[in-house]
Amino acid sequence: MDKLVIQGGIRLSGEIRIAGAKNSALPIMAATLLTSDVVTVGNLPHLYDITTMLELLGCMGVESVVGEKMNVEINSSTIRDFNAPYELVKTMRASILVLGPMLSHYGQAEVALPGGCAIGSRPVNLHLAALKKMGADITVENGYIKASTKGKRLKGAHILMDIVTVTGTENVMMAATLADGQTIIENAAREPEVVDLAHCLIAMGADISGEGTATITINGVKRLHGCTYFVMPDRIETGTYLIAAAATRGRIKVKDTRPGILEAVLSKLEEAGAEISLDETSITLDMHGQRPKAVSLTTAPYPAFPTDMQAQFTALNAVADGSGSITETVFENRFMHVHEMNRMGADLRVEGNTVIFRGVNNLKGAPVMATDLRASASLIIAGLVSQNETSVDRIYHIDRGYECIEEKLQLLGAKIRRLPS
Ligand code: EPZ
Repeated sequence: MDKLVIQGGIRLSGEIRIAGAKNSALPIMAATLLTSDVVTVGNLPHLYDITTMLELLGCMGVESVVGEKMNVEINSSTIRDFNAPYELVKTMRASILVLGPMLSHYGQAEVALPGGCAIGSRPVNLHLAALKKMGADITVENGYIKASTKGKRLKGAHILMDIVTVTGTENVMMAATLADGQTIIENAAREPEVVDLAHCLIAMGADISGEGTATITINGVKRLHGCTYFVMPDRIETGTYLIAAAATRGRIKVKDTRPGILEAVLSKLEEAGAEISLDETSITLDMHGQRPKAVSLTTAPYPAFPTDMQAQFTALNAVADGSGSITETVFENRFMHVHEMNRMGADLRVEGNTVIFRGVNNLKGAPVMATDLRASASLIIAGLVSQNETSVDRIYHIDRGYECIEEKLQLLGAKIRRLPS
């Protein structure tokens, strides 16, 4: 297992390019199961999770040809097995996204039930309840979801999601594209990645409206056809680098991104004292060398402040001027990074689903351990604002969601290197 070693105290400066969004690429790759035509997906990020999804499709017999610049052609007409095995699902919960499309197009699916993970129990009960309402026969046996339409088509239904669920909305939306009749999803997730998936499905011939709002309407069609679709930029990668630049009092420009999809993060960064300028596809953040001001925040589904940026902003607040609170309302256990940052001299106190923080001038480097994808990124930010050296272990988490993170940070002037643990 590799680790990243960081020498802190450098102000980030320079320009980097943002990759395609992991959380848009994964559902779009699963959506290729809805047609027997070839679907070409472009702007894929170089991430373990993308490779895992290709491996998962491959083990079901779905062929994919990876072109240059990680464009991939996926052809699901060669599918021969409808089973998503536990050994792959346990490494990537997003594997659950093959359930809806496989069931709707092929009438059957067997997907290992994703277990919990570091940030919470993360059940998929809402996915299953919705598909059952659409007529699927679903049982859970020996840790596997066994689903069948009994030779019939799924039927459109009126689905009310008790909780806003991103992949739950995506699974139901994909299944509904080939269902018989109309499906309405109420309390749907509004995340940009859900919208990106909807636009890809529409390019495949689906009849969808309301994407990006809390009510999505899908009129089932007989079949979907192939298309070429380029995945949107990654807003979480974008925000992570902007927060790192703000924490280190630097000045950076992130290119090939989309400013309009992380407004909650940008306004919190301005509250922290950042000067932010935008154009169509890039964001420039300048701290003018100033220490960030403390900013309180509460996470919630889009368009509110994203839970996937909470750990990173906690690292910024740990060295900010002032005190405040950070409340996590989406996942029940997303504060593991807090204990690691306190070992680096931060003053963070967990009270239920809230962290009370008092900013300190800087942290002290230490050996720390990553527990989940975004916590790893927050510990790297903590290392960047520490005196002396920090080593972040178990960084396989980071490689799942951040493309070439040390190269991009080196481009921004950081002293960071990857070593075998
Ligand atoms: C997606 O996960 C993202 N993953 C997560 O990003 C992100 O943190 C999360 O949405 C919230 O924005 C992908 O898109 C691949 P949810 P997802 O279903 O869909 C509860 C990252 O860092 N819930 O929106 O699994 C659940 O427990 C990852 O890239 C149920 O109770 O999240 C949670 O408390 C981490 N029953 C809340 O809803 C269900 O059936 C939101 O979860 C489904 C969800």
